[in-house]
Amino acid sequence: MNSIRGEGVRPALECEGLTKRFGGLEAVKQVDLRVDVGERRAIIGPNGAGKTTFFSLISGLYPVTSGSIRIFGQDITHLSCNQRTYLGLGRTFQITNLFPTLTVLENLVVAALGLRGIKFSMVRPLSTYRGLYERAGEVLETVGIAEKRAEVVRNLSYGEQRQIEISMALVSNPTVLLLDEPTAGLSPAESVMMTEMIYKLDPKITILIIEHNMDVALQVAPRITVFHQGCVFAEGSPKEIRNNPRVQEIYFGSED
Ligand SMILES: Nc1ncnc2c1ncn2[C@@H]1O[C@H](COP(=O)(O)OP(=O)(O)OP(=O)(O)O)[C@@H](O)[C@H]1O
Ligand SMILES: [Mg+2]
Repeated sequence: MNSIRGEGVRPALECEGLTKRFGGLEAVKQVDLRVDVGERRAIIGPNGAGKTTFFSLISGLYPVTSGSIRIFGQDITHLSCNQRTYLGLGRTFQITNLFPTLTVLENLVVAALGLRGIKFSMVRPLSTYRGLYERAGEVLETVGIAEKRAEVVRNLSYGEQRQIEISMALVSNPTVLLLDEPTAGLSPAESVMMTEMIYKLDPKITILIIEHNMDVALQVAPRITVFHQGCVFAEGSPKEIRNNPRVQEIYFGSED
């Protein structure tokens, strides 16, 4: 139902019948999903369930086979990745995606350059991009890792590197942020730090987080969507999902 002004009630993200086929394989099948503004939603599901592919459809990395994607009511199904970023979509990847020989601040500046369609020039010193440095510094302050700004990324712990990746996604000031397994490969202590960082992000940002670690999913998201074989298999509160025998079966049950 729309309000008179047509604002405030649109979901941050709405997918209808979203489908992705890779040759004979339907990796994402007829997915309907609605995430409200400011919501934090965890996406869980066994390996190969289609979670990352689903993110790649939303972010525009892969064209859809069929179906539609809207953010804040606007149809983005056929827009480029950059156009989606301008409209507020941010994303991190399952595999680390940093410039290891640059400093933390420089990594964020490179992310900001990408947003403006400026290719990183080896001949122009990064320090000449003043406004971008300011934006990068601001982001590091808000996520609480400003003291790492001058460190070369390859000297940081893996947990810190993954925090930098989220910071890079925040440079574009996203209103919808997709995090693909931010705690993958982290030690328990690093996972706690990461979870706290995500938990403290601006509550106005709508966050979808793919997470294998149920504890993390339960802490950051009051609502969970379970993917299985490309479909939305279940959706509900952490308690509902934990107590759902069908969900238990796909995680711990039969082999097929
Ligand atoms: N670019 C691609 N080309 C062909 N098949 C692909 C491609 N990307 C993913 N797939 C296949 O699509 C299915 C879903 O993969 P996807 O990576 O989305 O799963 P996932 O739920 O993210 O799994 P995981 O938990 O292991 O990260 C898998 O069978 C995978 O092999
Ligand atoms: Mg994945």
